Amino acid sequence: MSAFANQPTYDLFAPEALANSYPLFKRMRSEDPVHYCESAGYWILTRYRDVEAALRDERLSSDRTALYINQLGSLDFNLIQNFLHLTSKMMVDKDPPQHTRLRKLANPGFTTRAIESWRDIIENTTDRLLDNVQNRGGMDVVSDLSVPLPGFILPEIFGVPETDRANLLEWARDIGTFFGAARGSTIEIEELARKADKAAAQFCALIRQLIEQRRRQPGTDMISLLSVAYQEQGFNLEEVPSLCIEILNAGLLSTTDLIANGVNALLCHPEKLQKLKKNPTLINSAVEEIIRFDTSVPFFFRIAKQDLTIGGKEIAAGSLIALGLGAANHDPEKFEEPEVFDITRTPNEHLGFGSGIHFCLGAVLARMELTICLTTLLRRLPNLSFAPDKQAIPTKHSILILKGFDSLPVKFDARLK
Ligand code: HEM
Repeated sequence: MSAFANQPTYDLFAPEALANSYPLFKRMRSEDPVHYCESAGYWILTRYRDVEAALRDERLSSDRTALYINQLGSLDFNLIQNFLHLTSKMMVDKDPPQHTRLRKLANPGFTTRAIESWRDIIENTTDRLLDNVQNRGGMDVVSDLSVPLPGFILPEIFGVPETDRANLLEWARDIGTFFGAARGSTIEIEELARKADKAAAQFCALIRQLIEQRRRQPGTDMISLLSVAYQEQGFNLEEVPSLCIEILNAGLLSTTDLIANGVNALLCHPEKLQKLKKNPTLINSAVEEIIRFDTSVPFFFRIAKQDLTIGGKEIAAGSLIALGLGAANHDPEKFEEPEVFDITRTPNEHLGFGSGIHFCLGAVLARMELTICLTTLLRRLPNLSFAPDKQAIPTKHSILILKGFDSLPVKFDARLK
């Protein structure tokens, strides 16, 4: 009999958990906060103190390469040489000292000054998207706003010419899909692999071309800032495309889902929505509360480098551990009335952006995008509410990766010209 036979079991993929995972997280936190999910083969942490400690624990590794390789089954790696070249240097999957070096090189692309200089891009893009729907009296927050918003903003911040932006996004999507879908049949994986590999080659070629241009004529875009920083520190510019795909992968869907989660949280709490409308200076604490209340990144994985004990449970070297960021954000030991959506909550030390050396590099940009997007939405669309005749559809793919909506229909008063 297995050592875990008498433990409670939890189904993270049950329809009610996919619709609202917080009641399940609550049960796990109180019954078995360091839980081994035997069917999936990994540990799940749901208490704030365990998750925060794990994020900072040097005995846990972020290098998930072996896991990805295992998921690819018998795939011929010759098919994905361009993909591997592009993605094998991503800092999110590295431990010190490689992580320290890569993060230092990436920082110049995310200074407060640089991000502030892109404020106009975010404001203009939000306004343009709302111009398209303002007179309709309704929209789907996902397809009309939260998908296109980061999709327009990031390529512009990179300084990618308008004619290449759609290609860039398609290549990033093909690369991201292969990452996320490495579990299908061999034929499916091979097809995704070929697509991702071609996309990686094209992505690299475009970024290299832009680096060449920006070396001759630097601007204020992120590729210029990164190219200058790499050269000044004597590093190989060949690594810049890897950082660019990492930034796109990390910054597209997470932002899309967070915007939708934010709009949903506000519409589910009309009295808080009114309060925010009356007092727009609450937007910063409202944004933090949205990230705490319903983060788009509910889990992040680590691998135990050695045998260790968490919460009295023996965890063997090589074990996979899911750090429940979303669950930790609802831990009553840390947050007073965690199920209450309180847009004035202070302090609000949520783990939505992680903690420690891998703390989200894009946190300032993500906060700015959400702040501008929600402020503009509430200012421009009067009487915003859920569309009465259409259903919101939460994403079904996997709460282990991202949590958001496939569709979130809303209505508002049209302003016909
Ligand atoms: C919008 C909501 C976002 C959420 C909830 C989020 C969340 C996170 C979390 C939890 C981590 C930590 C991973 C770990 O511990 O290993 C992380 C890392 C990272 N994020 Fe974000 N992120 C968001 C947006 C963005 C954006 C917009 C960008 C860039 C444009 C970005 C870039 C990154 C990068 C590069 C890392 C890896 C940092 C490292 O390994 O040192 N993120 N993010």
